Amino acid sequence: MDFQTLLYDVDADGVATITLNRPDALNALNRQLVGELGQAMRAAKSDPAVRGVVLTGSGEKAFAAGADISEFAGMEPLEAHRFALRGQAVFNAIEQMPKPVVAAVNGFALGGGCELAMACHLRVASESAQFGQPEVNLGLIAGFGGTQRLPRLVGHGIAAEMLLTGDRIPAERAERVGLVNKVVPAGELAEAAKAFVMTIASKAPVAVAMSLQALRAADLPLPQGLQQEAALFGQCVATEDFAEGVGAFLNRQKPEFQGR
Ligand code: COA
Repeated sequence: MDFQTLLYDVDADGVATITLNRPDALNALNRQLVGELGQAMRAAKSDPAVRGVVLTGSGEKAFAAGADISEFAGMEPLEAHRFALRGQAVFNAIEQMPKPVVAAVNGFALGGGCELAMACHLRVASESAQFGQPEVNLGLIAGFGGTQRLPRLVGHGIAAEMLLTGDRIPAERAERVGLVNKVVPAGELAEAAKAFVMTIASKAPVAVAMSLQALRAADLPLPQGLQQEAALFGQCVATEDFAEGVGAFLNRQKPEFQGR
């Protein structure tokens, strides 16, 4: 697929890699990039050959250094409100992908870059990666989901520290506080992110999609979240993959899931 601000590639194993590709601006998220990211995610979702997505940044310095600040000058409140809603919609679509989406954070993940990584299902970071929500330095707040997803991932205290001070935290601390699943040397990042996708892709696809749906219900009050979990648990039993998985276990065979 042809994009101006992204690279999109699907490898022989069915892993789509979407690379934010504005290295001269540290992959800052301008309007065009946000729009193209939405298109690329829709392409990955609808392509049956794609089993999962790795999202990363081009160059050695940045995953994404946030929203493109050059587009902020002269912005009116209504326009800014719409801009935030548009970014949130694209990031929500990433979170709602039925296939695994893994962020491979290769450098700065700041502002919208940190928010983008948080909208992915899992995050792998290189040892030199840094995370932060520096919007307060610009007289702004996070607007692409940061004030909501960060406390859900790391708890209120650390989220408050990051959102109020604007300070960056290194990969090692990000892993310790639960913002990142795994930290690896830079040279192993792509491989580690793909390994997560391949592990998940080897499981029952409908159960993976339903696990993702149930995880999203963790934002609901507990009784409603539990109801959703039970309903999805019931639906799993109607799938061919359930019959295959249980049958294979009982017969000591390897399951061959069809995603049905
Ligand atoms: N929007 C637009 N351009 C950005 C950008 C952003 N968020 N972040 C970096 N850039 C551009 C810089 O303007 C610079 O462009 P230039 O070479 O044409 O001058 C280029 O990317 C390299 O950045 P630079 O600041 O020179 O690199 P650095 O290594 O000194 O610092 C950062 C790196 C990430 C610490 C610094 O760029 C930064 O603080 N960026 C803004 C982060 C931010 O506030 N994000 C939230 C936005 S809401």
